[in-house]
Amino acid sequence: MKRLKAPLCQAEQTVLQCSTRDKSLCVFFFFFFRDERNQSIIVSGESGAGKTVSAKYAMRYFATVSGTTSEANVEQKVLASNPIMEAIGNAKTTRNDNSSRFGKYIEIGFDTRFRIIGANMRTYLLEKSRVVFQADEERNYHIFYQLCASSHLPEYEKLKLSSAIDFLYTKQGRSPVIEGVDDTKELCSTRNAFTLLGINESYQMGLFQVLAAILHLGNVEIKDRDSDSSIIPPNNRHLSAFCELVGVTYQDMSQWLCHRKLKTATETYVKTLPRLMATNARDALAKHIYAKLFNWIVEHVNKALITNIKQHSFIGVLDIYGYVCLCGLSSQSDVTHFL
Ligand SMILES: Nc1ncnc2c1ncn2[C@@H]1O[C@H](COP(=O)(O)OP(=O)(O)OP(=O)(O)O)[C@@H](O)[C@H]1O
Ligand SMILES: [Mg+2]
Repeated sequence: MKRLKAPLCQAEQTVLQCSTRDKSLCVFFFFFFRDERNQSIIVSGESGAGKTVSAKYAMRYFATVSGTTSEANVEQKVLASNPIMEAIGNAKTTRNDNSSRFGKYIEIGFDTRFRIIGANMRTYLLEKSRVVFQADEERNYHIFYQLCASSHLPEYEKLKLSSAIDFLYTKQGRSPVIEGVDDTKELCSTRNAFTLLGINESYQMGLFQVLAAILHLGNVEIKDRDSDSSIIPPNNRHLSAFCELVGVTYQDMSQWLCHRKLKTATETYVKTLPRLMATNARDALAKHIYAKLFNWIVEHVNKALITNIKQHSFIGVLDIYGYVCLCGLSSQSDVTHFL
Protein backbone atom coordinates (compact mmCIF):
# COMPACT_ATOMS: atom_id res chain seq x y z
CA MET A 1 0.00 0.00 0.00
CA LYS A 2 2.95 2.27 0.72
CA ARG A 3 3.96 1.97 -2.88
CA LEU A 4 0.56 3.25 -3.95
CA LYS A 5 0.37 6.18 -1.58
CA ALA A 6 1.70 8.78 -3.99
CA PRO A 7 -0.43 7.78 -7.00
CA LEU A 8 -3.49 7.49 -4.74
CA CYS A 9 -3.08 11.08 -3.50
CA GLN A 10 -2.48 12.11 -7.07
CA ALA A 11 -5.70 10.35 -8.15
CA GLU A 12 -7.69 12.01 -5.36
CA GLN A 13 -6.36 15.37 -6.48
CA THR A 14 -7.30 14.58 -10.08
CA VAL A 15 -10.88 13.70 -9.07
CA LEU A 16 -11.22 16.94 -7.13
CA GLN A 17 -9.84 19.03 -9.95
CA CYS A 18 -11.42 17.43 -13.01
CA SER A 19 -14.19 19.03 -15.04
CA THR A 20 -17.81 17.83 -14.86
CA ARG A 21 -17.37 16.29 -18.32
CA ASP A 22 -14.52 14.07 -17.10
CA LYS A 23 -16.02 13.30 -13.68
CA SER A 24 -17.13 9.74 -14.36
CA LEU A 25 -13.78 8.80 -15.94
CA CYS A 26 -12.00 10.46 -13.00
CA VAL A 27 -14.00 8.44 -10.49
CA PHE A 28 -13.46 5.28 -12.52
CA PHE A 29 -9.71 5.88 -12.58
CA PHE A 30 -9.70 6.66 -8.85
CA PHE A 31 -11.26 3.28 -8.01
CA PHE A 32 -8.84 1.62 -10.41
CA PHE A 33 -5.98 3.17 -8.40
CA ARG A 34 -7.50 2.50 -5.02
CA ASP A 35 -8.66 -1.09 -5.49
CA GLU A 36 -5.71 -2.27 -7.60
CA ARG A 37 -8.10 -4.41 -9.60
CA ASN A 38 -8.48 -4.76 -13.33
CA GLN A 39 -11.48 -2.86 -14.65
CA SER A 40 -13.40 -2.75 -17.90
CA ILE A 41 -15.70 -0.28 -19.58
CA ILE A 42 -18.45 -1.57 -21.86
CA VAL A 43 -19.70 1.08 -24.27
CA SER A 44 -23.06 0.13 -25.69
CA GLY A 45 -25.80 1.92 -27.60
CA GLU A 46 -27.31 2.00 -31.05
CA SER A 47 -25.38 2.93 -34.16
CA GLY A 48 -24.40 6.59 -34.11
CA ALA A 49 -24.92 6.92 -30.34
CA GLY A 50 -21.25 7.81 -29.83
CA LYS A 51 -19.67 4.53 -28.66
CA THR A 52 -16.47 4.88 -30.66
CA VAL A 53 -16.11 8.57 -29.86
CA SER A 54 -16.58 7.77 -26.14
CA ALA A 55 -14.17 4.81 -26.24
CA LYS A 56 -11.52 7.01 -27.87
CA TYR A 57 -12.20 9.75 -25.34
CA ALA A 58 -11.66 7.28 -22.49
CA MET A 59 -8.41 6.03 -24.09
CA ARG A 60 -7.16 9.60 -24.53
CA TYR A 61 -8.09 10.36 -20.93
CA PHE A 62 -6.12 7.38 -19.58
CA ALA A 63 -3.17 8.29 -21.81
CA THR A 64 -3.24 11.84 -20.43
CA VAL A 65 -3.63 11.11 -16.72
CA SER A 66 -1.19 8.21 -16.55
CA GLY A 67 2.49 9.13 -16.36
CA THR A 68 5.05 8.26 -19.00
CA THR A 69 7.30 5.23 -18.90
CA SER A 70 10.69 4.67 -20.47
CA GLU A 71 8.88 3.01 -23.42
CA ALA A 72 9.03 5.59 -26.20
CA ASN A 73 5.68 7.03 -27.22
CA VAL A 74 3.67 4.17 -25.79
CA GLU A 75 0.54 6.24 -25.15
CA GLN A 76 0.76 7.72 -28.63
CA LYS A 77 1.09 4.23 -30.08
CA VAL A 78 -1.98 3.02 -28.21
CA LEU A 79 -3.96 5.98 -29.57
CA ALA A 80 -2.55 5.48 -33.08
CA SER A 81 -4.31 2.13 -33.27
CA ASN A 82 -7.62 4.07 -33.59
CA PRO A 83 -7.16 5.70 -37.03
CA ILE A 84 -5.82 2.43 -38.41
CA MET A 85 -8.75 0.36 -37.15
CA GLU A 86 -11.24 2.99 -38.35
CA ALA A 87 -9.70 3.05 -41.84
CA ILE A 88 -10.02 -0.71 -42.26
CA GLY A 89 -13.08 -1.44 -40.11
CA ASN A 90 -15.35 1.62 -40.34
CA ALA A 91 -17.61 2.71 -43.15
CA LYS A 92 -20.31 5.21 -44.02
CA THR A 93 -23.80 3.86 -43.36
CA THR A 94 -27.17 5.59 -43.49
CA ARG A 95 -26.92 6.03 -39.70
CA ASN A 96 -23.34 7.10 -39.21
CA ASP A 97 -20.62 8.38 -41.58
CA ASN A 98 -18.02 6.54 -39.49
CA SER A 99 -19.82 3.39 -38.42
CA SER A 100 -17.72 0.63 -36.84
CA ARG A 101 -18.40 -2.61 -38.68
CA PHE A 102 -16.55 -4.79 -36.16
CA GLY A 103 -16.37 -5.08 -32.38
CA LYS A 104 -13.24 -4.09 -30.53
CA TYR A 105 -11.98 -4.87 -27.05
CA ILE A 106 -8.72 -3.21 -26.07
CA GLU A 107 -6.87 -3.88 -22.84
CA ILE A 108 -4.58 -1.03 -21.79
CA GLY A 109 -1.81 -2.31 -19.53
CA PHE A 110 -0.38 -0.33 -16.58
CA ASP A 111 2.71 -0.82 -14.45
CA THR A 112 2.82 -0.60 -10.63
CA ARG A 113 2.92 3.19 -10.85
CA PHE A 114 -0.16 3.19 -13.08
CA ARG A 115 1.68 4.30 -16.17
CA ILE A 116 0.61 2.91 -19.55
CA ILE A 117 3.06 0.25 -20.68
CA GLY A 118 1.25 -1.28 -23.65
CA ALA A 119 -2.03 -2.62 -24.94
CA ASN A 120 -3.64 -5.60 -26.58
CA MET A 121 -6.66 -5.59 -28.87
CA ARG A 122 -9.18 -8.25 -29.84
CA THR A 123 -11.69 -7.79 -32.64
CA TYR A 124 -15.03 -9.48 -33.31
CA LEU A 125 -17.49 -10.00 -36.13
CA LEU A 126 -16.02 -7.99 -38.97
CA GLU A 127 -18.81 -7.31 -41.49
CA LYS A 128 -17.20 -9.08 -44.44
CA SER A 129 -20.22 -8.76 -46.74
CA ARG A 130 -19.56 -5.00 -47.00
CA VAL A 131 -16.37 -5.70 -48.97
CA VAL A 132 -18.44 -6.87 -51.94
CA PHE A 133 -21.79 -5.14 -51.43
CA GLN A 134 -23.02 -1.83 -50.03
CA ALA A 135 -26.63 -0.71 -49.69
CA ASP A 136 -27.80 2.55 -51.20
CA GLU A 137 -26.06 5.63 -49.73
CA GLU A 138 -23.50 3.49 -47.91
CA ARG A 139 -19.81 2.94 -48.56
CA ASN A 140 -17.30 0.15 -48.35
CA TYR A 141 -14.47 0.45 -45.76
CA HIS A 142 -12.84 3.91 -45.73
CA ILE A 143 -9.41 2.60 -46.76
CA PHE A 144 -10.64 1.75 -50.28
CA TYR A 145 -11.81 5.34 -50.87
CA GLN A 146 -8.60 6.71 -49.36
CA LEU A 147 -6.60 4.73 -51.92
CA CYS A 148 -8.84 5.65 -54.86
CA ALA A 149 -8.71 9.34 -53.90
CA SER A 150 -4.90 9.14 -53.82
CA SER A 151 -4.55 7.11 -57.03
CA HIS A 152 -3.31 10.12 -59.03
CA LEU A 153 -0.19 10.38 -56.83
CA PRO A 154 2.94 8.81 -58.43
CA GLU A 155 3.68 6.55 -55.44
CA TYR A 156 0.37 4.71 -55.96
CA GLU A 157 0.72 4.37 -59.74
CA LYS A 158 1.51 0.66 -59.63
CA LEU A 159 -1.84 -0.04 -57.91
CA LYS A 160 -3.55 0.88 -61.21
CA LEU A 161 -6.46 2.45 -59.35
CA SER A 162 -8.71 5.31 -60.38
CA SER A 163 -11.87 6.92 -59.01
CA ALA A 164 -14.03 4.91 -56.58
CA ILE A 165 -16.91 5.14 -59.08
CA ASP A 166 -14.89 2.92 -61.44
CA PHE A 167 -14.97 -0.13 -59.15
CA LEU A 168 -17.94 -2.38 -58.44
CA TYR A 169 -16.90 -2.87 -54.81
CA THR A 170 -16.85 0.88 -54.10
CA LYS A 171 -19.67 2.23 -56.25
CA GLN A 172 -22.75 0.19 -55.35
CA GLY A 173 -23.94 2.56 -52.61
CA ARG A 174 -23.68 5.47 -55.11
CA SER A 175 -22.22 7.62 -52.37
CA PRO A 176 -18.43 7.62 -52.77
CA VAL A 177 -17.83 10.90 -50.95
CA ILE A 178 -18.46 11.87 -47.32
CA GLU A 179 -19.21 15.53 -46.83
CA GLY A 180 -16.37 17.25 -45.00
CA VAL A 181 -13.98 14.30 -45.36
CA ASP A 182 -10.89 14.49 -47.59
CA ASP A 183 -9.98 10.86 -48.29
CA THR A 184 -6.54 11.82 -49.64
CA LYS A 185 -5.69 13.54 -46.33
CA GLU A 186 -7.18 10.63 -44.41
CA LEU A 187 -4.75 8.25 -46.15
CA CYS A 188 -1.86 10.41 -44.89
CA SER A 189 -3.22 10.07 -41.31
CA THR A 190 -3.63 6.32 -41.74
CA ARG A 191 -0.06 6.04 -43.02
CA ASN A 192 1.34 8.17 -40.19
CA ALA A 193 -0.37 5.87 -37.70
CA PHE A 194 1.06 2.78 -39.46
CA THR A 195 4.53 4.32 -39.34
CA LEU A 196 4.20 5.18 -35.64
CA LEU A 197 3.32 1.54 -34.99
CA GLY A 198 6.38 0.31 -36.87
CA ILE A 199 4.58 -0.90 -40.00
CA ASN A 200 7.10 0.47 -42.47
CA GLU A 201 6.63 1.92 -45.96
CA SER A 202 7.31 -1.35 -47.70
CA TYR A 203 4.74 -3.25 -45.59
CA GLN A 204 2.26 -0.41 -46.13
CA MET A 205 2.71 -0.66 -49.88
CA GLY A 206 2.23 -4.43 -49.64
CA LEU A 207 -1.06 -3.88 -47.83
CA PHE A 208 -2.20 -1.33 -50.41
CA GLN A 209 -1.35 -3.78 -53.20
CA VAL A 210 -3.63 -6.40 -51.64
CA LEU A 211 -6.42 -3.82 -51.17
CA ALA A 212 -6.09 -2.63 -54.77
CA ALA A 213 -6.10 -6.26 -55.92
CA ILE A 214 -9.46 -6.75 -54.17
CA LEU A 215 -10.94 -3.79 -56.09
CA HIS A 216 -9.62 -5.17 -59.38
CA LEU A 217 -10.99 -8.63 -58.57
CA GLY A 218 -14.47 -7.12 -58.13
CA ASN A 219 -14.29 -5.73 -61.66
CA VAL A 220 -13.47 -9.11 -63.22
CA GLU A 221 -16.50 -9.86 -65.29
CA ILE A 222 -17.33 -13.53 -65.59
CA LYS A 223 -19.29 -14.50 -68.68
CA ASP A 224 -21.55 -17.47 -69.55
CA ARG A 225 -19.95 -20.15 -71.65
CA ASP A 226 -23.07 -22.30 -71.51
CA SER A 227 -25.69 -22.96 -68.83
CA ASP A 228 -23.26 -25.00 -66.70
CA SER A 229 -20.00 -23.24 -67.27
CA SER A 230 -18.46 -19.81 -67.33
CA ILE A 231 -15.38 -18.10 -68.70
CA ILE A 232 -13.22 -15.05 -68.17
CA PRO A 233 -12.19 -13.71 -71.57
CA PRO A 234 -8.41 -13.55 -72.13
CA ASN A 235 -6.60 -10.28 -71.42
CA ASN A 236 -9.11 -8.98 -68.91
CA ARG A 237 -7.24 -5.91 -67.66
CA HIS A 238 -8.59 -6.14 -64.11
CA LEU A 239 -7.65 -9.79 -63.75
CA SER A 240 -4.20 -8.97 -65.15
CA ALA A 241 -3.84 -6.19 -62.55
CA PHE A 242 -5.04 -8.54 -59.76
CA CYS A 243 -2.51 -11.22 -60.79
CA GLU A 244 0.32 -8.73 -61.02
CA LEU A 245 -0.46 -7.24 -57.59
CA VAL A 246 -0.69 -10.52 -55.72
CA GLY A 247 1.80 -12.55 -57.75
CA VAL A 248 -0.34 -15.32 -59.27
CA THR A 249 -0.64 -16.36 -62.89
CA TYR A 250 -3.49 -15.24 -65.13
CA GLN A 251 -3.99 -18.78 -66.37
CA ASP A 252 -4.41 -20.21 -62.86
CA MET A 253 -6.77 -17.48 -61.72
CA SER A 254 -9.04 -17.61 -64.76
CA GLN A 255 -9.14 -21.40 -64.50
CA TRP A 256 -9.90 -21.59 -60.75
CA LEU A 257 -12.43 -18.79 -60.65
CA CYS A 258 -14.56 -20.72 -63.15
CA HIS A 259 -13.89 -24.28 -61.96
CA ARG A 260 -13.79 -26.21 -58.73
CA LYS A 261 -11.97 -29.33 -57.67
CA LEU A 262 -13.83 -32.15 -55.95
CA LYS A 263 -11.90 -34.83 -54.12
CA THR A 264 -13.34 -38.22 -53.26
CA ALA A 265 -11.55 -41.02 -51.43
CA THR A 266 -10.27 -42.40 -54.71
CA GLU A 267 -10.50 -39.68 -57.35
CA THR A 268 -10.27 -35.96 -58.02
CA TYR A 269 -12.73 -34.25 -60.38
CA VAL A 270 -12.58 -30.79 -61.90
CA LYS A 271 -16.06 -29.35 -62.47
CA THR A 272 -17.10 -26.21 -64.28
CA LEU A 273 -19.02 -23.49 -62.44
CA PRO A 274 -22.00 -21.64 -63.88
CA ARG A 275 -21.58 -17.85 -64.10
CA LEU A 276 -23.54 -17.05 -60.94
CA MET A 277 -21.57 -19.53 -58.83
CA ALA A 278 -18.26 -18.34 -60.27
CA THR A 279 -19.23 -14.74 -59.45
CA ASN A 280 -20.09 -15.79 -55.89
CA ALA A 281 -16.73 -17.56 -55.67
CA ARG A 282 -14.99 -14.37 -56.83
CA ASP A 283 -16.79 -12.38 -54.09
CA ALA A 284 -16.02 -15.04 -51.48
CA LEU A 285 -12.34 -14.80 -52.39
CA ALA A 286 -12.43 -10.99 -52.05
CA LYS A 287 -14.04 -11.24 -48.59
CA HIS A 288 -11.58 -13.90 -47.48
CA ILE A 289 -8.56 -11.85 -48.59
CA TYR A 290 -9.91 -8.76 -46.80
CA ALA A 291 -10.55 -10.66 -43.56
CA LYS A 292 -7.00 -12.09 -43.66
CA LEU A 293 -5.56 -8.63 -44.26
CA PHE A 294 -7.65 -7.21 -41.39
CA ASN A 295 -6.38 -9.91 -39.03
CA TRP A 296 -2.80 -9.38 -40.18
CA ILE A 297 -3.07 -5.68 -39.34
CA VAL A 298 -4.60 -6.39 -35.90
CA GLU A 299 -1.78 -8.86 -35.21
CA HIS A 300 0.89 -6.33 -36.19
CA VAL A 301 -0.73 -3.50 -34.24
CA ASN A 302 -0.69 -5.80 -31.21
CA LYS A 303 2.96 -6.65 -31.82
CA ALA A 304 3.75 -2.93 -31.75
CA LEU A 305 1.85 -2.48 -28.48
CA ILE A 306 3.29 -5.46 -26.64
CA THR A 307 5.69 -4.74 -23.78
CA ASN A 308 8.40 -6.57 -21.84
CA ILE A 309 7.58 -4.65 -18.67
CA LYS A 310 5.58 -6.64 -16.13
CA GLN A 311 1.91 -5.65 -16.25
CA HIS A 312 0.39 -4.79 -12.88
CA SER A 313 -3.20 -4.19 -14.00
CA PHE A 314 -5.29 -3.29 -17.01
CA ILE A 315 -8.30 -1.27 -18.07
CA GLY A 316 -10.36 -2.89 -20.82
CA VAL A 317 -12.53 -0.84 -23.18
CA LEU A 318 -15.16 -2.69 -25.21
CA ASP A 319 -16.63 -0.79 -28.16
CA ILE A 320 -19.53 -3.01 -29.10
CA TYR A 321 -20.53 -3.33 -32.73
CA GLY A 322 -24.20 -3.45 -33.62
CA TYR A 323 -27.51 -1.77 -33.10
CA VAL A 324 -28.62 -3.45 -29.90
CA CYS A 325 -28.49 -1.70 -26.55
CA LEU A 326 -27.22 -4.12 -23.86
CA CYS A 327 -30.14 -3.28 -21.55
CA GLY A 328 -32.47 -4.59 -24.29
CA LEU A 329 -30.96 -8.06 -24.16
CA SER A 330 -33.05 -10.41 -22.12
CA SER A 331 -30.89 -13.41 -21.41
CA GLN A 332 -27.32 -14.47 -21.06
CA SER A 333 -27.55 -16.36 -24.34
CA ASP A 334 -28.56 -13.10 -26.08
CA VAL A 335 -25.45 -11.45 -24.74
CA THR A 336 -23.26 -14.38 -25.69
CA HIS A 337 -24.72 -14.43 -29.20
CA PHE A 338 -24.29 -10.68 -29.58
CA LEU A 339 -20.68 -10.64 -28.45
N1 LIG B 1 -19.40 13.29 -27.46
C1 LIG B 1 -19.63 13.67 -28.71
N2 LIG B 1 -19.48 14.96 -29.07
C2 LIG B 1 -19.71 15.36 -30.33
N3 LIG B 1 -20.10 14.55 -31.33
C3 LIG B 1 -20.27 13.28 -31.03
C4 LIG B 1 -20.04 12.76 -29.71
N4 LIG B 1 -20.29 11.44 -29.72
C5 LIG B 1 -20.64 11.16 -30.99
N5 LIG B 1 -20.63 12.25 -31.78
C6 LIG B 1 -20.99 12.32 -33.22
O1 LIG B 1 -21.72 11.15 -33.55
C7 LIG B 1 -21.06 10.44 -34.60
C8 LIG B 1 -21.23 8.96 -34.35
O2 LIG B 1 -20.47 8.58 -33.22
P1 LIG B 1 -19.77 7.16 -33.13
O3 LIG B 1 -19.07 6.87 -34.41
O4 LIG B 1 -18.99 7.15 -31.89
O5 LIG B 1 -21.04 6.23 -33.01
P2 LIG B 1 -21.09 4.68 -32.66
O6 LIG B 1 -21.99 4.52 -31.50
O7 LIG B 1 -19.71 4.17 -32.51
O8 LIG B 1 -21.82 4.11 -33.93
P3 LIG B 1 -21.57 2.69 -34.69
O9 LIG B 1 -22.25 1.64 -33.88
O10 LIG B 1 -22.26 2.93 -36.00
O11 LIG B 1 -20.12 2.51 -34.82
C9 LIG B 1 -19.62 10.92 -34.55
O12 LIG B 1 -19.00 10.85 -35.82
C10 LIG B 1 -19.75 12.35 -34.10
O13 LIG B 1 -20.05 13.17 -35.22
MG1 LIG C 1 -18.51 2.91 -33.65
